[in-house]
Amino acid sequence: MAVSTITPPRTDDWWRSAVVYQVYVRSFADSDGDGVGDLAGIRERLPYLRDLGVDALWLTPFYTSPMVDGGYDVADYRDVDPMFGTLADFDAMITDAHALGLRIIVDLVPNHTSSAHRWFVDALAAGPGSPERARYHFADGRGEHGDRPPNDWESIFGGPAWTRIADGQWYLHLFDPAQPDLNWRHPEVRAEFEDVLRFWLDRGVDGFRVDVAHGMIKAEGLPDVGFGTATTGQRQVDLLGRARLPYFDQDEVHEIYRAWRPILDSYPGGRMAVAEAWAETPQRLARYIGPDELHQAFSFDFLDATWSADSFRKVIDTALAEATVVGAPTTWVLSNHDKQRHVTRYGDGAEGLRRARAASLLMLALPGSAYLYQGEELGLPEVLDLPDELRQDPAFLRTGESRDGCRVPIPWSGELAPYGFGPAGSELSWLPAPATWRALSVAAQAGTPDSTLELYRAALRIRHEHPALAVDAGEVTWLPAEPGVLAFSRTAGTTALTCVVNLSGAPVAIDGYGEPIVASAPLTDHLLPIDASAWLERR
Ligand code: NOJ
Ligand code: MG
Repeated sequence: MAVSTITPPRTDDWWRSAVVYQVYVRSFADSDGDGVGDLAGIRERLPYLRDLGVDALWLTPFYTSPMVDGGYDVADYRDVDPMFGTLADFDAMITDAHALGLRIIVDLVPNHTSSAHRWFVDALAAGPGSPERARYHFADGRGEHGDRPPNDWESIFGGPAWTRIADGQWYLHLFDPAQPDLNWRHPEVRAEFEDVLRFWLDRGVDGFRVDVAHGMIKAEGLPDVGFGTATTGQRQVDLLGRARLPYFDQDEVHEIYRAWRPILDSYPGGRMAVAEAWAETPQRLARYIGPDELHQAFSFDFLDATWSADSFRKVIDTALAEATVVGAPTTWVLSNHDKQRHVTRYGDGAEGLRRARAASLLMLALPGSAYLYQGEELGLPEVLDLPDELRQDPAFLRTGESRDGCRVPIPWSGELAPYGFGPAGSELSWLPAPATWRALSVAAQAGTPDSTLELYRAALRIRHEHPALAVDAGEVTWLPAEPGVLAFSRTAGTTALTCVVNLSGAPVAIDGYGEPIVASAPLTDHLLPIDASAWLERR
């Protein structure tokens, strides 16, 4: 591949190569000692994030919510839940963030509201056929007595996607029954969210992460899928990414984003949106991004890649190619609040940590934007042994699968759990941190040369300063390498930065690639150990 012309990102294009740090608000930092992270806690920790070297934060939902699904059940889109603070706390936090050069992305949850949202409460009260019900998907059931759901759709959290209410009608919820799906063919729904966008843009947010961005439009007539747990034993959601479901990735969903884009563009400073979208193919995913829709879409295939050179090479090439077609940069991610942490996915223990560090260096060398999930810079593993009675993920009760293990509060300092998560002396945390996290706290790792925290700090510093990494468009040139080894370079003028990743199972010689400037494991005799990455420079 040829080397492209280098143009530094314009301010409005900040997101194209940004490193965005995902803050799972209730688990990041607790300012008031109630055991739950909050906005004031984030504000106190902003200098840590500035020093880490990230460009922006994405905050998971902090809006008024019964917290059935960790805040992805929003009861009031224009207010802060008292658990997390107030609108004034938000304003103070974003002011400080901007002063430190950090941008703020907030989560937008448009596919469903909370069942405690005013609209849904009114819809229940208003009865069948009412205008209030038309904002959601209410329907009569099947069968003589209407006691079977209106269609065969399944909830992502397990069980049918329909719940019956006292007057006999059913309503649709692709997630928990406490998360009724909105009817996006209704003009009031569209107008409401355009207004919600403006509400937060007016407060200064730099962007939105759009939850279930592929889900808002349902196929006309709500047709059956035709198979599912009841007939084939295979959950419909397991086919996500392989088949088009009538409730996901419908063509008309793009109209919504084409209406949002001019709103974002009407504000100064480069306001953006990133899609959490799942589509059948990378080609269909790329339709969400581009100059007239959203700016970014997470490349989850990268997160799902298995630990092999072929697997990474394939997803990287595909994502780069698809993004190029629509003129957008790629958006890489290895962990988030829904997925097992990558240390554990790659094998857990010492092996998992080695690989996680190597994968992170790989991600940060690629062109485009990268999203980090809080705690990955500490090398945190998934907490696998949380007692069942403490688990809060609504999916756990219905499927036995739980995302709580990646949501354990961050260890900051000290000898005793929850390791500085709250104010001095506070012992509360909504999920307990394991004893092994004492050695993984920020204070324990800061200044320790081989720590994961210092590796991230070094990599982010180089990423910012190095001309070959400073732009999103610097193309990837694959270099010859031994089997099981990935090597690519990016170039600016006469300077090249090469990233080598050793997935081969034996140490490899890297002296031909340049001078090492950072590595995920110690290099001896110019050998890159197994499960390690290095960046090398040639000027
Ligand atoms: C995706 C979010 O990331 C996840 O946490 C949530 O449960 C679902 N969307 C439903 O909002
Ligand atoms: Mg708190």
